Amino acid sequence: MTTKTRSDSDDRVIIFDTTLRDGEQSAGAGLTVEEKLRIARQLARLGVDVIEAGFAASSAGDFEAVQRAAREIEGPVIASLSRAVAGDIDAAGRALEGAARPRIHTFLSSSEIHILHQMRRDRETIMGMAVDAVKRAKGYVEDVEFSPMDASRTEPEYLYSMLTQVIDAGATTVNIPDTVGYSNPREFGSLIRGIFENVSNIDRAVVSVHCHNDLGMAVSNSLAAVENGARQVEGCINGLGERAGNAALEEVIMAIETRRDHYRAFTGVDTREIGPASRLISAIFGFPVQYNKAVVGQNAFRHSSGIHQDGYLKERTTFEIMEPESVGWRGEALVLGKLSGRAGLRSRLRDLGYSVSEEGVDDVFASFKSLADRKREVTDADLESLMAEHFRFADTERAYKVDKVHVVCGDDVTPEATVSLEHPDGEKKTHTARGTGPVDAVCKAIDALIEGEVKLTEFAVNSVTEGIDALGEVTIRIEKDGWTYSGRGSSTDIVVASAKAYVNAINRALAIGMQTSPPQSVAVV
Ligand code: KIV
Ligand code: ZN
Repeated sequence: MTTKTRSDSDDRVIIFDTTLRDGEQSAGAGLTVEEKLRIARQLARLGVDVIEAGFAASSAGDFEAVQRAAREIEGPVIASLSRAVAGDIDAAGRALEGAARPRIHTFLSSSEIHILHQMRRDRETIMGMAVDAVKRAKGYVEDVEFSPMDASRTEPEYLYSMLTQVIDAGATTVNIPDTVGYSNPREFGSLIRGIFENVSNIDRAVVSVHCHNDLGMAVSNSLAAVENGARQVEGCINGLGERAGNAALEEVIMAIETRRDHYRAFTGVDTREIGPASRLISAIFGFPVQYNKAVVGQNAFRHSSGIHQDGYLKERTTFEIMEPESVGWRGEALVLGKLSGRAGLRSRLRDLGYSVSEEGVDDVFASFKSLADRKREVTDADLESLMAEHFRFADTERAYKVDKVHVVCGDDVTPEATVSLEHPDGEKKTHTARGTGPVDAVCKAIDALIEGEVKLTEFAVNSVTEGIDALGEVTIRIEKDGWTYSGRGSSTDIVVASAKAYVNAINRALAIGMQTSPPQSVAVV
């Protein structure tokens, strides 16, 4: 049963979203500043308490993302990550200037294994660095978070001492990361309890947790921490993040909200914005959400077995513990068709959470009409795919655009593709190429039309809705100068969708490449 009652003694759990920082560390992810801002706006609509907008010192792009989020996003605290070194803290402080609610989140390894092998310093030096980092951050902002990296593998007495000292130095939140996803719920819960029992000044800071999912326990560990008094949970929407990812925030939020009776806690999130946030983030990152993913997977509210359907039809709560609408589930609503007009489209888009300018509606309307001509019913899912495409173009206006695609293929001919590409200066150029299949031929034709070299590394096609006339959505990953970039494209013709996805990945590589330095291993100090 959904439990919505809140008692006066229930505590608020602060939701700290790090999709734009740890999430962007997912292998194969990379976002433009505009894409980050779009996600940040949706996170603000979702009502998360803190948005970690980036790691200001890591690149010009991250600096700009933190700076713009700090100036443009209203509501949540905006945080920048920084290593426990002066230069990083100064960059974070500068990027956050002018923010209504800025936070510097500084971190330093605390486990023996990290201190010995990565930091190559002694414990005293590390302790001093942690305290100095917090003091320096305090010179910029009041709200300072400190994370002892690899806390779950840190010798408890050393951890307690570090937390005591950083709180004395002014840390207002102490975050306990299970950096390598090594812990389990019982152990992690005890660690948090131990902190409350052994850190004498712990009442002066919020205890936060940041769990990775290497053993699939990130959400359970985070919730075990809440049971033991943690009042901030960090994570990413869709469970994105370094390696196997971070705790999936939508799962943490819905566990707390659905089981308030158990956790005696609540969040300030508008859960109806979870679905739109998940879909937007999946589209922008180019990481599909698994069908049976809790809360946001497309099967999460589908009842298939006859017995379940029977029970559900008699009384929803027999087999449903959350209302689909409460997490913004879009269902299968069929809303628009070829006779629909601009007003209907604009109103439906507004319902889906998109605010599109007059001029923008004209563009989307043209794509909508062309889709409606080919497809009997245009669903919400189709509209979201169109919108993802519209935003991709809006972001990359000064980039390549697919003008025309023509392919000849079959089981008795060598596939051949002719592609016309509009270049950033407006000039259209055409090339014809052959390949092992139609998609290969299309990519080869595009390769011949662009400057520089790219390599296609992944290709996946998904249908956005069901039926023979469904919109096909292609996700592509390419490699350029050692970086991986994703691209997406949709069309009722999957070869055209592939061309669009390939060009989108190339455009994103050009846009992101301009804001980032080439890949390198970053020293921790
Ligand atoms: O996983 C981790 O330890 C981190 C820290 C920077 C908080 O991401
Ligand atoms: Zn992390």
